[in-house]
Amino acid sequence: MPQDEGMAPWWQSAVVYQIYPRSFADSDGDGVGDIPGIIAHLDHLSALGVDVVWLSPVYRSPMDDNGYDISDYTAVDPLFGTLEDLDALIAGLHERGMKLVMDLVVNHTSDEHPWFQSSRDVASPMRDWYLWRPAREGHEPGTPGAEPTNWGSFFSGSGWEYDPASHQYFLHLFSPKQPDLNWENPGVRQAVHQMMRWWVDRGVDGFRMDVINLISKTYPLRDGEVNGPDGLSYDPSLVIEGPRLHEFLREMNTEVGLSERDLFSVGEMILVNADQARSHTDEAAGELGMVFTFEHMSIDSGPSGMKWDVIPLHLPTLKANLAQWQYGLADHGWNSLYFENHDQPRSVSRFGDDSPEFRVASAKTLATTLHLLKGTPYVYQGQELGMTNAGFTSIEQYNDIESIRFHAQAVAAGGAPEQVLAAIAFKSRDNARTPMQWDASANAGFGAGTPWLAVNPNHAEINAAAAAADPDSVFHHYRALIALRHDLEIVRQGRFLLLLPEDERLFCYTRTLGAEVLLVVANWSSEPVALPSDLPDLTGAEVLLGTHASTSPQLAGWESRIYRLA
Ligand code: NOJ
Repeated sequence: MPQDEGMAPWWQSAVVYQIYPRSFADSDGDGVGDIPGIIAHLDHLSALGVDVVWLSPVYRSPMDDNGYDISDYTAVDPLFGTLEDLDALIAGLHERGMKLVMDLVVNHTSDEHPWFQSSRDVASPMRDWYLWRPAREGHEPGTPGAEPTNWGSFFSGSGWEYDPASHQYFLHLFSPKQPDLNWENPGVRQAVHQMMRWWVDRGVDGFRMDVINLISKTYPLRDGEVNGPDGLSYDPSLVIEGPRLHEFLREMNTEVGLSERDLFSVGEMILVNADQARSHTDEAAGELGMVFTFEHMSIDSGPSGMKWDVIPLHLPTLKANLAQWQYGLADHGWNSLYFENHDQPRSVSRFGDDSPEFRVASAKTLATTLHLLKGTPYVYQGQELGMTNAGFTSIEQYNDIESIRFHAQAVAAGGAPEQVLAAIAFKSRDNARTPMQWDASANAGFGAGTPWLAVNPNHAEINAAAAAADPDSVFHHYRALIALRHDLEIVRQGRFLLLLPEDERLFCYTRTLGAEVLLVVANWSSEPVALPSDLPDLTGAEVLLGTHASTSPQLAGWESRIYRLA
């Protein structure tokens, strides 16, 4: 059943703000952002008007993947502060009417987690908590090609690591320091549920679940089609949406009380399509509130499907994809809406035009296009300022394990170094991880110490202090969009219809609720475009929000408007 009006769960009216703690604000001058740094900036979030903070991992971790490799799920890493700091963050958010969603990384742990340490011992009852396998039949363990399957990891190189002590391999779909947990083992699942309940009891309001559609593997594990330059198979379809995924998610929901306690839940799901997303987020499924799709993030990847194989954005393809998700989850399930997070480059550099002439307009137009869709919008730190890609030119400037491992692999395979670097400069996750730009001072007001990743020199112009003081800034546009969602039921629940699907510059759609209709017109190009005559009649229409103070029948480069039709 679609939700009755007025009965919709609270998170369907919410806007989420993602904090990548390492890059948000550094309170103690060690060059790394921390929880007290976040607490010092809660007024920025209140001013923006967001309802929920999703905090990327702050758990104890060796930081091989910046905290997505967890060695203790119930401790805060000293780099970020203490449990008491986290309690203070929860209290500070709750006092301001905001909620806290924690990152839940349970497809894998760190190899330094005590569970894995114990699992290294073949005689341990925890041996089976991870995926240990013997060498491929007929191969000497530890020799090239002896890995149990030909899987490449998401971070390049084999997905198997050899353990000379036991002559076996363990599976790691990410780095070798991120061994995959064996969810078939009930002890693993119970330990995860218990840990989640512990956080809920501490006051957190829900979870963002890291790569959660990888937890159920399809057995027996088998070779995939080779599609990597290194002779490995990089075919995620072999590892996603395994046969017990629905069961595991339902069990988690029940055991933790996700639905019962009205908690927020979003599952990050690799390669999921809209039908699968609906099957996970339909209320009747009793699994998750919403999922993160990757489909629209792959639209500028070439035929290999690999993110580094960059092709120009074709707007009709993006529109068709977003529309498919809008239609697919119109009555059952719920969409999450995002153009940025800590794994994606900056959207204004990727889809917009980050030149001085169009940066502000294109950042606003991307925001309008996304925030008027049906679903729960996510703002990634700095997106509300129109922060741009990092502009790094040498591999030494990068920190990200994915970028560094890809660079090594691609150059070793004969890739032209300048082409490899160009792909990384466009798509690297570090584009989103440069320190938050608070003001024009040294280190952008991030902190007193040398930041762990270089600050973008454009912080002299692009920063939160300047944006707050300028009523025409990207920041104030985000505020207005968030307020519109809070004020108008039609923004939250109206039915979506894509217009002009083939147009290569205009992104136009309507939202309808009863007799009320909103029309969004957005020019996704730097050239002026006339509004075509086959759009709905604009006579008597009111502009609710626009990027430019204009009602001309022509849109300037990157101009967008939200109309309420008469
Ligand atoms: C997805 C996270 O968003 C990403 O940052 C991380 O590297 C992988 N999962 C592995 O945990």
